[in-house]
Amino acid sequence: MNTSPSERRVALVTGAAGELGRAICQRLWRDGLHVVAVDIDLPAARQLAGALPALPGQRALPLYADMGDAACIAAMVEEAGAAFGRIDVLVNNAAVNHRGSIFDFDAARWDHMMAVNLRGPALLCQRVAPYWKASGAGGRVINMVSRCWVAGGPPAYVACKAGLVGLTRSMARELAPLQVTVNAIAPGLLPSAFTLDGRDAASFELMAEGSIASTPLKRLTTPEDIAGTTAFLASPDAAFITAEVIHVCGGSQLAPFGR
Ligand SMILES: NC(=O)c1ccc[n+]([C@@H]2O[C@H](COP(=O)([O-])OP(=O)(O)OC[C@H]3O[C@@H](n4cnc5c(N)ncnc54)[C@H](O)[C@@H]3O)[C@@H](O)[C@H]2O)c1
Repeated sequence: MNTSPSERRVALVTGAAGELGRAICQRLWRDGLHVVAVDIDLPAARQLAGALPALPGQRALPLYADMGDAACIAAMVEEAGAAFGRIDVLVNNAAVNHRGSIFDFDAARWDHMMAVNLRGPALLCQRVAPYWKASGAGGRVINMVSRCWVAGGPPAYVACKAGLVGLTRSMARELAPLQVTVNAIAPGLLPSAFTLDGRDAASFELMAEGSIASTPLKRLTTPEDIAGTTAFLASPDAAFITAEVIHVCGGSQLAPFGR
């Protein structure tokens, strides 16, 4: 694409160094966007950004942010804004999961999940809104939820993701005057640090078998499935889609969660 640096759109992706974040950054980069790769793990974000193939006039900027920390989010957006002068596409992908049932959840961990997974995306939108206002070029917000939001699962995680669907619908209305669309993607299960944490290979395998069994299209989600859907929602083809949840999980939103 023959685009000068100032015309090139800028995508800010949180949780950029994770399994889905990496695939999303790589895909948006391939589609010609500048990428701001945000993660609490800055060395991993730097590694990801450094591994993107060098292209003339295209820049990847790794930045640190703890999405649970309001001041940190503000500082990170300021740095991204100073570097590019615009932010067009926001992918709220970072999340934490402290598993626990309603019988044994820990209040501090519940609050941490709400701060990172739900308040973080709202604060980030609030901080990026002035850039959408200033550019007048519209924008895109893509919130990563989970098929769990309909199927159920660990209560704090499901509450965050269902909350993020609510936020998606609310922000779609609030940001529409700025021609900013807001949509959510609900992936199915895939192996990542997120899903493997606290599980051994055998218990993940068992869960994966259950998930495939309850998935009409009979496989797990791949990072490329999610990156492709993100690219579509960021593209001109999706300009008139807002307030939607796209389930990218082979139809498993139709079925109860397989264990
Ligand atoms: N893996 C799955 O099966 C699955 C299924 C449905 C939805 N999701 C969602 O997809 C998204 C990405 O998950 P993943 O599987 O790629 O996980 P992952 O663990 O591979 O990546 C998560 C990334 O978020 C970063 N992160 C964690 N806490 C952070 C914080 N406070 N601030 C900033 N960054 C932080 C981590 O460093 C990591 O790079 C999450 O929102 C998750 O809920 C995942």
